[in-house]
Amino acid sequence: MSAAPDREPIGVIGTGYVGLVTAAGFAALGSDVYCVDIDEEKIRGLEAGRMPIWEPGLEELIAEHRERLHFSTELGPALERARLLFVAVGTPPTYSGDADLSAVHAVVDAMPASGRHALVMKSTVPVGTGESIERALAEHGKGFGYVACPEFLKEGAAVRDFMNPDRVVIGDGGGWAGDAVEALYAPLDAPIVRTDVKSAEMVKLASNAFLATKISFINEIANVCEETGADVVEVARGMGLDDRIGPKFLQAGIGFGGSCFPKDVTALKQLAGNSGYHFQLLNAVIEVNELQKRRVISKLQKHLGSLVGKEIALLGLAFKPNTDDMREASSLVLSSRLQGAGARVRAYDPVAEDEARKLISGVTFASSAAEAIDGADAIVLVTEWPEFRDLDLADAARSMRGSLLVDGRNFIDPDAARGAGLVYEAIGRPSRDGAG
Ligand code: UDX
Repeated sequence: MSAAPDREPIGVIGTGYVGLVTAAGFAALGSDVYCVDIDEEKIRGLEAGRMPIWEPGLEELIAEHRERLHFSTELGPALERARLLFVAVGTPPTYSGDADLSAVHAVVDAMPASGRHALVMKSTVPVGTGESIERALAEHGKGFGYVACPEFLKEGAAVRDFMNPDRVVIGDGGGWAGDAVEALYAPLDAPIVRTDVKSAEMVKLASNAFLATKISFINEIANVCEETGADVVEVARGMGLDDRIGPKFLQAGIGFGGSCFPKDVTALKQLAGNSGYHFQLLNAVIEVNELQKRRVISKLQKHLGSLVGKEIALLGLAFKPNTDDMREASSLVLSSRLQGAGARVRAYDPVAEDEARKLISGVTFASSAAEAIDGADAIVLVTEWPEFRDLDLADAARSMRGSLLVDGRNFIDPDAARGAGLVYEAIGRPSRDGAG
C-alpha cells in the first residue's frame, strides 16, 4: 500500500499515545509518516510490530498501514521527506506546577536551518510557548514555520477520536503551514477552527480545565446528595437533558486522573499565577478532586470501623477503563491511604497490572476479580471496566469475609448488589441506612 498521491508525507516526533495515534491516523488517511523517537527500544519494538502502549484499535491500524509508517531514532528521514513535523513529546508537570518543556526545547534545538519545514505542536504547552519557539527559531536563523494544533484525544477512544474529531484547532500566523495542516485534516470533515497560535494553545487548556471543573462540580453535588438523601445519578440525568449543560462529564465518582486533566488544570492555574492572576475556581477544582479520592476511606470506616488488618479488594487500577495508563490514577492515592490506615490491599486490573506494579508497592495483585474478592472484608470498585458488569455478585458475597461493596464509579446496579446480599455504598446515592 503506497502513499495516496495527493497526501503529503509528515514527520511525527514522539511515539507516545498522541504521537502514535496521530501517526497511524494520518497513515490511514494516506500519508507516508516518518516517526521519530529517542527511545531506541521503543523504535525497535515498533519496527517489529510491538506496541509500547495499550490503546484499543491502534495495533490493528498500525498493522494495516504499516507500509506507510516509518520508524527511526534519527530526524534525518523525516526532515528529508516531510515538510510538516508534528511534535508529540511529553510535557509533564514540574514541582512548581509549570509544564516541563525540556523535551519540546530539545526538539526545537535539534532542528536545522530550513525555510521548507514547519513544526506542528500537538503537545499541550502553556500559552505563549509557540511565540517563544517562533522567536527562538527566528533568532537561530532556522526559518521554520510554526502551527499550534492541540490534540483532544481521549485515551481508550483515541483512534475513534482522531477519525471523528469534534473540531480541529489550527493556530498560526499565516503562511503555508497552517493551510497544509488544514488540508491534511480535510478528509475528516470536522469543523476547523483557524485562529492565532496563543488562542489555539488556550483552547486546549481551557477545554480540559472546563471538563475537569464539570467533574469536580458533579462530585460536590454528589457529596451534598449524600447529606440530603438525593441521588446524584438522577440529578445528573435531570441536569444533562438541558442542552446548555449536556449529559457528558456528569458522572460522579472518586475523582479524575490521567495524563491530561490533573496536569493541564495545574498548568493553567500556574500560567495564570505567573502572569499575576489568581485563578480561584481551579484551586477548588483541584482540591475537590484530591478530597474525592479519599472519601472512600470514610465510607469503609463507617461500616468496618478501624481498617487495621482489614482485607480490601480494589477492582480496577487504571485511571479509567480501556487503558493501561496509571498516571494520576485515583487508585494510587487510595491504595496508599488504605495501607496508611493499616488495611491489607489486594487488587485486580484486567490490563494495567504491569504499569501499576511500577507505581504501587505493598499491594497483592490478583489475576481475576474473583481472586481479589475471595476472603475480602470489602470491595472497592475503582475503575469501571466493562467486565465488572458481569461480576457474579452472589458468588462475591459468598466468598467474601465481609459484605461491603463501595462502588466508586456508580457502576453496579444497587438493587442487584443488595439482592445478592452485599452492603452497597455508592458516590452520591442514598445508602439503605439513610443519608451518607
Ligand atoms: C482527556 C480529555 O477528554 C481529552 O480531550 C484530552 O486530550 C486529554 O484528557 P483522558 O484523560 O484520556 O482525556 O480521559 P477522559 O475520558 O476525558 O477522563 C478523564 C478522567 O475523568 C478519568 O479519570 C475519568 O474517570 C474521569 N471522569 C470523566 C469522571 O470522573 N467523570 C466523568 O463524567 C467523566
